Amino acid sequence: MSHWMVINETGGPDALSWEARELGAPDAGEALIRHTAVGVNFTDVHRRRGDHHLPTPVPCSLGLDAAGVVEAVGDGVTEFDVGDRVAYAAMPLEAYSDERILTAERLVPLPDSIDDKIAAAAMVKGITVQFLIRQTFRVEPGQVVVFHAAAGGVGLIACQWLKHLGVTTIGTVGSEAKVDIARAHGADHILVHGRDDIAGLARELTNGHGVPVVYDSIGKATFDESMRCLAPRGMLVSFGNVSGYIEPVHLSQVFGAESFFFTWAKMHHYIESREDLLSATRDLFDVINSGAVKIDVNQTYPLQEAGRAHADLEARKTTGSSVLIP
Ligand SMILES: NC(=O)c1ccc[n+]([C@@H]2O[C@H](COP(=O)([O-])OP(=O)(O)OC[C@H]3O[C@@H](n4cnc5c(N)ncnc54)[C@H](OP(=O)(O)O)[C@@H]3O)[C@@H](O)[C@H]2O)c1
Repeated sequence: MSHWMVINETGGPDALSWEARELGAPDAGEALIRHTAVGVNFTDVHRRRGDHHLPTPVPCSLGLDAAGVVEAVGDGVTEFDVGDRVAYAAMPLEAYSDERILTAERLVPLPDSIDDKIAAAAMVKGITVQFLIRQTFRVEPGQVVVFHAAAGGVGLIACQWLKHLGVTTIGTVGSEAKVDIARAHGADHILVHGRDDIAGLARELTNGHGVPVVYDSIGKATFDESMRCLAPRGMLVSFGNVSGYIEPVHLSQVFGAESFFFTWAKMHHYIESREDLLSATRDLFDVINSGAVKIDVNQTYPLQEAGRAHADLEARKTTGSSVLIP
């Protein structure tokens, strides 16, 4: 018998419950994976609370990324075999489980150099950093950029990767307690929301011009300030809304602003093909293997305590990545 964490109704961290299920055998093209480590992402919180649309009706599970071992394969699966170590960042949302079946096309082989917990912590967050800084807005050495929530899971990976690429990062955090960790991971300037003048520093470091890109996952609370940081023809890359959805923008505000680009960027659209998935993952594993990026698993919980992991993430108590262990 398999088990998974299920939400029967959207709600608080208690909405998650541990339930048994019959899994069956993989169909053609699928693999059964026994999870060894499961990622926790803020998007799981959004879905549990009902802020974001659930792709399947309740009752359903959560979780986009995990690492584990292939236990069985269906007909036609040639790339993977029983016993292979694998990881993924993929729908359907079933990573919060001890084992699951997934189309083998979405799996990536795990090199020996990458431990299961690191892989579970890095798949969604690391691929996200890859597409943000190498694809959505491809940074260049010497540029100054703003990256919000710099001490979070995505944030700590971004700070290190940007440093590795020769970029100067203005990282933002929610409290003084998170300044040191963001600095230790390569952010050159760390500013605290509500205390420091983020747009002021963005202009000071760029001779008054503004920065070419702001990576903003906070949404409603930071939109105005992010816009004030941008250089003419700069790009606001919006990829999250932990503080709520950005308020509607009146077109007169847009016409009064400098020329700018706005984009909403979602991981799934950057790894739709197998080639794109493998290419983004290869980049990620390269920076991990070279030592340029270290994945910080700063919180670990038993899978059955996923609700506690969510509560800590929502309360802004975490830094780096959190992982669930089945
Ligand atoms: N578009 C995509 O495909 C994609 C993929 C992955 C992740 N994301 C987004 O990237 C962001 C980071 O994800 P993550 O999993 O690594 O989470 P995280 O950054 O570890 O946690 C979120 C952080 O946001 C900050 N924050 C600011 N206002 C907050 C509020 N009102 N409530 C809670 N936190 C608040 C907190 O840091 P401080 O205390 O320092 O403010 C908190 O630690 C999320 O918005 C997520 O949805 C998007």
